[in-house]
Amino acid sequence: MHATQAIKAEFEKVFGDGKKGRVHVIRAPGRVNLIGEHTDYNDGLVFPMAIEPQVIIACRARADGRVRLASTAFPGQVVEFSVEQTIERGEPAWANYFRGVAAELEGAGIPLTGMDALIENTLPVGGGLSSSAAIEVGTGLAFLTLSGVEMDRDRLALICQKAEHEYALVPCGIMDQMIVATGKAGHATQYDCRSGAKQFVKIDPNDLRVVIVNSMVRHELTGGEYAERRRQCEAGVAFFQQQHPGAGIRALRDVTLKQIHEAEGKLDPVVFRRCRHVVSENHRTAEAATALAQGKYERAGQLMVESHRSLRDDYEVSVAELDFLSDEAMKVRGVYGARMTGGGFGGCIVALVQPRAVDALKAHLEKVYPAKFGIKPMAFATTATAGASVVE
Ligand code: GLA
Repeated sequence: MHATQAIKAEFEKVFGDGKKGRVHVIRAPGRVNLIGEHTDYNDGLVFPMAIEPQVIIACRARADGRVRLASTAFPGQVVEFSVEQTIERGEPAWANYFRGVAAELEGAGIPLTGMDALIENTLPVGGGLSSSAAIEVGTGLAFLTLSGVEMDRDRLALICQKAEHEYALVPCGIMDQMIVATGKAGHATQYDCRSGAKQFVKIDPNDLRVVIVNSMVRHELTGGEYAERRRQCEAGVAFFQQQHPGAGIRALRDVTLKQIHEAEGKLDPVVFRRCRHVVSENHRTAEAATALAQGKYERAGQLMVESHRSLRDDYEVSVAELDFLSDEAMKVRGVYGARMTGGGFGGCIVALVQPRAVDALKAHLEKVYPAKFGIKPMAFATTATAGASVVE
């Protein structure tokens, strides 16, 4: 059965049949970041694309302001709240993304209609492919659609990011919500997190495939490391502002590679390495997007490998499993580049590969990874998809 039909059938099982009004279906994709990691909250550049695994939400308006929410991942649970009362965080935790987006939309002055909604998620939770951003943006679109409100996608992304901060308590940057809300089919987006400028770069599946390999090690961004990295970056900004008063440094985005080199030995060594990662990663990201646009795949791949090393050694957000998968991927002929993707501490690697190398890469990693770590990885190729949309 087609995915849309299947979720509608499931929706009717949970909430009763269709006489009560039209059931809409919303799709919100996950994302993979090709390069530009831990740069978004430093006003820098990122280069993600939306992917095939996705969140689907079936929803139907209610006239009484109530929201009843179910998830195929938690059968039997129905979470209830009202858009006419203050929306608080609460148990179960999975519903907080939904509550958060509803609360932030209302906070932004949007009057909301209640709804029955069923969420289905084909993204690995804690897999670093932004299942949370997909749920948030999908929720936002569901409320906007049923409430008959049009909203600019960039604004929706910002509202969803705020929901993640305040209801999921993860101090994330803007990359995930932005790409889930605005991704363009067939393209990766180089996004400037300061100016908001987007540059779309075609990923032609005849030339290039994007392979994602899940290490099956779950990451937890609420674990404190992410917030700690953000604080270290802020400490770096304070140092460079003091060293270069009048240079207009507002974020690590404004620090040059020369200033980084001059800071060695003067700045706390850990903060120094964190800053060196961010500043060099911005350069790599700009160059990689240009290289990909010009079909210089080897160069783009090399920059991904350098990005991984920098994340491993300077930013220290990789783990042995991600290092191993990236190194082993590079041993396969036809792989241009591989690196960890997303926040780190588990999750996935992403590889750029020639189409004919996809099967060889999967086969190799499915052999060597379990032999070393005793875990079966999950590997798949994906095209670049469009951002979230109302399917029906
Ligand atoms: C997580 C965050 C993003 C970004 C990445 C690292 O995915 O949600 O905002 O900071 O980590 O690049």
